[in-house]
Amino acid sequence: MRTHYCGELNKDSIDQTVELCGWVNRRRDHGGVIFLDMRDKRGIAQVVINPDNDDFTLAESIRNEFVLKITGQVIARGEGLVNPKLATGEIEIVAHKIEILNTSKPIPFQIDSTDTSEEVRLKYRYLDLRRDEMQQRLRLRSKVTHYMREFMDNNDFLDIETPFLTKATPEGARDYLVPSRTHPGDFFALPQSPQLFKQLLMMSGFERYYQIVKCFRDEDLRADRQPEFTQLDVESSFMNEDEIMALMEEMTRGMFKSVIDVDLPNEFPIITYADAMNLYGVDRPDMRIPMQITDINELMKDVDFKVFSGPANDAKSRVAALKVPGGATISRKKIDKYTKYVSIYGAKGLAYIKLNEDGPASPILKFLGDEVTAKIIETTDAQTGDIIFFGADKIKIVNEALGNLREQLAKDLDLFDKQWAPIWVVDFPMFDAEDDGSLSAVHHPFTAPSVDAKTLEQTADTALSRAYDLVINGSEVGGGSIRIHQVEMQQTVLKLLGISDEEAQDKFGFLLNALEYGCPPHGGMAFGLDRLVMIMTGTDSIREVIAFPKTQTAACLLTNAPSSVPRKVLRELSIKVSLLEKD
Ligand code: AMO
Ligand code: AMP
Repeated sequence: MRTHYCGELNKDSIDQTVELCGWVNRRRDHGGVIFLDMRDKRGIAQVVINPDNDDFTLAESIRNEFVLKITGQVIARGEGLVNPKLATGEIEIVAHKIEILNTSKPIPFQIDSTDTSEEVRLKYRYLDLRRDEMQQRLRLRSKVTHYMREFMDNNDFLDIETPFLTKATPEGARDYLVPSRTHPGDFFALPQSPQLFKQLLMMSGFERYYQIVKCFRDEDLRADRQPEFTQLDVESSFMNEDEIMALMEEMTRGMFKSVIDVDLPNEFPIITYADAMNLYGVDRPDMRIPMQITDINELMKDVDFKVFSGPANDAKSRVAALKVPGGATISRKKIDKYTKYVSIYGAKGLAYIKLNEDGPASPILKFLGDEVTAKIIETTDAQTGDIIFFGADKIKIVNEALGNLREQLAKDLDLFDKQWAPIWVVDFPMFDAEDDGSLSAVHHPFTAPSVDAKTLEQTADTALSRAYDLVINGSEVGGGSIRIHQVEMQQTVLKLLGISDEEAQDKFGFLLNALEYGCPPHGGMAFGLDRLVMIMTGTDSIREVIAFPKTQTAACLLTNAPSSVPRKVLRELSIKVSLLEKD
């Protein structure tokens, strides 16, 4: 239907007769002459309709977002009328013929406005997606998946699909369930990841597998979590963690270069989980921020300030300091705001020392004394003009409070010293100890420990796993591990997780069986595609890079899903709905 795209016309097109198809981005009536900004997927060009045009009356009925076909001639814009902001700003098209391919009702919101509420944007997502910004993001996303496929294909990985209607695959979230009509009372689970199937494919001898695949997790949603999201899922036999990490790093570097022309460092740094928690308070450290948490337990053991000496003498607690360069100017009011902020993580307060021109200032100086204060300043290497914040509590609370405070301060005070900072986090613990003493898997139950089965049983609470996460700019964009490939080890881990033999057979019997028929050593990784694209496009929510995302309450405002279904359908599924009373 068209000869050219609007956005591709330029001075070289002058004098050509072109046929354009697209939408009316904006229509302006200039006393007898009508100007249309015509938009297609490549951009915008200005169309001029003069009063002597046979279709002028028709043109007068045109409104924003009508779909048109325009035949016309490209001409240079007159002196002083060039629009340097528009790629096609040097030319315009004088229309000869106008066809209205379709009309449009007035749009419920201004398409290119930036202050439309997200609710409205999601309800009319098909209109929101017409915005240039959204078009660019989804285009970039497609370039990323194209790069991934090419890289994986070139490295001899095979794209194999795995089932969506399946059994629970534990990745730490709740399952989405699908009732089975043919097996009344039974349910499929949508996969939280293809983890078990990709391991089975290794047992089938494919050696290298990948898939760009949807995963489903019913968990509390945040800006970087969706109930259905996409992974680049990878698995390989006969590769150790160094080899897998090197290959995935090569892909990441190549992808950033090819898609957004960013040079990531030649070798990504590696940090242990323990160091990440001690120095940055989180297991996904944002290395763009040149601030570290300093442990001051030793200094606080004997001070006359219970708030600090208590935790300093308790093995499960810690006292730590966060020095903020140039932070002495932070006002009392702001400090109160940060104190409230850390209370979200359970912190009971946020002590601080300001290093003013005339010396240290703080309500807690009187408790600490000059000598200890001087030692804190020395240990944290604080200078005049800085502020030091303190956390004293259970280790988890202090880490979360100071770790998140570090990131918040970096945003508020613009304390980033680089634009891109990838880092591998390794040596994760195998297990998390729950309050009741039971263990849960830090990654998933199929991750190999770095010790043998006997040692694992004896040192379960401290044992490390052969897992690795890739973190970019403080966001966990991927994670993986070497897997357990021997049945005895898998049984030991399931036992330590409190899963009985019977339950293990019921849930993972197929895996345990498969492990006994010549399972090769294997490992892999999965990237969160949405998070990667979010970072690469500089947005702060994965909803901005997903065509049809769900809201924070896991609903789709466009289709109104989830929704009730007719009784007849429920009957076919042998389902009776009785809404439980809320507590
Ligand atoms: P994991 O659970 O760490 O590992 O997931 C891998 C990556 O997927 C992304 N991700 C999410 N993105 C958006 N919304 C979510 N709800 C969500 N949950 C996870 C993250 C994360 O790093 N089977 C293992 C991988 C393996 O061991 O090979 C797995 O799924 O970026
Ligand atoms: P208080 O003696 O409770 O008034 O606290 C004195 C100072 O220590 C205040 O600035 C509090 O914000 C701070 N503070 C209290 N509890 C903690 C804590 N657990 N960690 C860090 N600072 C705290």
